[in-house]
Parts: sequence; C-alpha cells; structure tokens
Amino acid sequence: MVKFEPSVRLINGEMMPLIGLGTWQSRPGEVGSAVEYALDVGYRHIDTAHLYGNEEEIGAAIRKKINEGVIKREDLFVTTKLWCTSHRPERVLEALNLSLKKLQLAYVDLYLIHGPVGFQYIDENTMFPMDNNGKFKLDQVDHALTWKELEKAVDQGLAKAIGLSNFNHKQIQHILDTCRIKPANLQVECNAYLNQGPLYDFCTKNQITFTAYGPLGSPGRLDIRSGDPVLLEDPLVLEIAKRHNKTPAQILNRYLIERGRATIPKSTNRERIKENFAILDFVIPEADLLQLDGLNRDLRLFRFDFIKENPAYPFHEPF
Ligand SMILES: NC(=O)c1ccc[n+]([C@@H]2O[C@H](COP(=O)([O-])OP(=O)(O)OC[C@H]3O[C@@H](n4cnc5c(N)ncnc54)[C@H](OP(=O)(O)O)[C@@H]3O)[C@@H](O)[C@H]2O)c1
Repeated sequence: MVKFEPSVRLINGEMMPLIGLGTWQSRPGEVGSAVEYALDVGYRHIDTAHLYGNEEEIGAAIRKKINEGVIKREDLFVTTKLWCTSHRPERVLEALNLSLKKLQLAYVDLYLIHGPVGFQYIDENTMFPMDNNGKFKLDQVDHALTWKELEKAVDQGLAKAIGLSNFNHKQIQHILDTCRIKPANLQVECNAYLNQGPLYDFCTKNQITFTAYGPLGSPGRLDIRSGDPVLLEDPLVLEIAKRHNKTPAQILNRYLIERGRATIPKSTNRERIKENFAILDFVIPEADLLQLDGLNRDLRLFRFDFIKENPAYPFHEPF
C-alpha cells in the first residue's frame, strides 16, 4: 500500500509535508546521496540553511532527481534559513539569492530567520565573527526591519512562505504586530522531553505551523553535557516501541506528527533515513500519546549559552 505523507496547510495556502529530512551536520560528500536517497524513498521536504554549508550539494541532488523524473519541483518543499550575520535589511535579499543560486532553485517554499540574535557581517563564510578578545561581534537589528525584506522576497516570488526559528512568543508577537505578511511557520527544538506545549498553542492560535528540530534529542549535537538524558534510550519510548514493533526513533517521530508538529530528523545513513520515514503505517493510541506527553521536562539541549547576555537571547522567557 502506498502511503502518502501527511501535510499541513500553511497560511499562504500551500501544503508543508510533516516529515522532512534534516541536514545540519550532514557532511559534504554525504549529504547529496542522503538527499537523493530520501527523495527515492518518498521524502518531499528538505530542511537546510546557509549555516550548514551544504546548500550546493543539496541543490545538485535535487536537480538530479528532477532531471531523472523522480520528482517535480512543485511536489517538493524546500526550507532554507537566513543566517544571523544577515539581519540587516540590505543583506537579506542578497543572502536569499545566494542560497537560491546554490540550491539551483527559482524559489524556496519556506525561508526562515534562523535565530533572533544578530551577528555582524564580515563575509559569507564567517558565521560567528569574533573580536580580538574572543567576544562575539553582535549586531542588534529590529526584527521587524528584517521581516520587511522577507516580505519583499515573497512579493518577488523568491520565497513562497516566510517564518521564524528560535524566536520566543514575545519576539513572534512583535512580528505579528508589525507585519504585512504573517509568519507561516516556527521551527524550534521540540521532542518528547521538550514538547513546547505553550509555544505550540500560541502558534496555533496565530495560524503559525510548527516544525520540531532535534526530534530524536539530537544525539549528534556538539554541546553534549554529562547528565543529559538520552531520549532514544528512554525506558518508556523503548517500551512503547517494543509493543508496536517499531524503533524508538519511529515512535518519537510519529509522536510529533500525531501532536501536530512537523518532524525533520537528520540522517545520512540509508537505513535510518528509510526508518524515519516509515511511520505512516501505524498510529500511536491516545493512551500511549498521553504517556509520551508525560515525558516532557522542558529540557533544552540547544541552549545557546554563548549569547545568553544578548537582549535578543530568546530562552529567558518561559516560552
Ligand atoms: N533551526 C535551528 O536552529 C535548528 C537547530 C538544529 C537542527 N535543525 C534542523 O533540524 C534537523 C534535525 O535536528 P538534529 O539534526 O539536531 O537532531 P535529530 O534529528 O534529533 O538527530 C540526528 C542524529 O540522530 C541520528 N539518527 C537519525 N535517525 C536515527 C534513528 N532512526 N535511530 C538512531 N539515530 C538516528 C543521526 O545520525 P546518522 O546521521 O548517523 O543517522 C544524528 O546523529 C537538523 O538536521 C536541521 O535540519 C535546526
């Protein structure tokens, strides 16, 4: 039986598939074949960012699959992100055009502001500019000004939808209060240990769809601290997986889509790419979902401590 991927409608009327391939830390030489394989097994949503340094290889993989007739552009949902060195209005369209060129695309389906804290622009390859004392060169730009440029990207057909990432509800409200085109999506860390209930409800009330990054607890992340629990090894997740004859990752991904969040697990391993997508032939009963809800402990694994002192740091707010 062919299973079609569930999708959610964005405020612009377009559909966003609820399962996407994450590509942060997907290395050069690996990411292209991961994307090609993902498209072969049915993924239609690819998540990347200027920061990840892999847009070019992803673009080539997508182009190859379009040329082979495996996919049509209009069936594919591609997200990329404006890096924090390009919040200044004069940088935004230039940054997007560069991403489009690398991706070999005329438009992206979703363009996100990657995070609320700005850094000074040095050049395209300097992601975290530092001064001689080892301090980050920060830049503060009113997000409403950056957003106006994203709106121009929509006007010019360069992005079908625009959205935010790592913003708290007050920062999102500022955009809602000043925008002409509403944010279509929020991408934040979200998984069974951090289910983001209040932020999800806030977004839903404002017709903003929700994408979960780190859906598996990001076991490959850089900032692993002793004492951080391992979500993929949680006893409840293991028990529910065993009962449904599924893997822990499949339970965690399915849980998120059952709870209305898009999930974008990253993998460059063929078996795991396939496994993460093979979650459409079962449902998790409500009783199990409630138990998984109970795992929430508001545990943030992406803490961004290095920018904690900045006024735009998003995580001092409870949500
Ligand atoms: N907006 C933002 O600020 C932001 C921040 C972080 C991430 N993201 C996006 O969200 C995506 C997902 O987040 P993430 O990459 O941090 O974490 P994740 O998807 O929760 O975890 C990825 C890690 O889990 C492993 N893995 C994947 N599938 C698995 C499976 N079925 N069983 C066991 N292990 C598995 C991967 O290794 P293998 O590759 O070896 O399989 C990788 O080490 C990113 O790739 C990126 O696109 C966005």
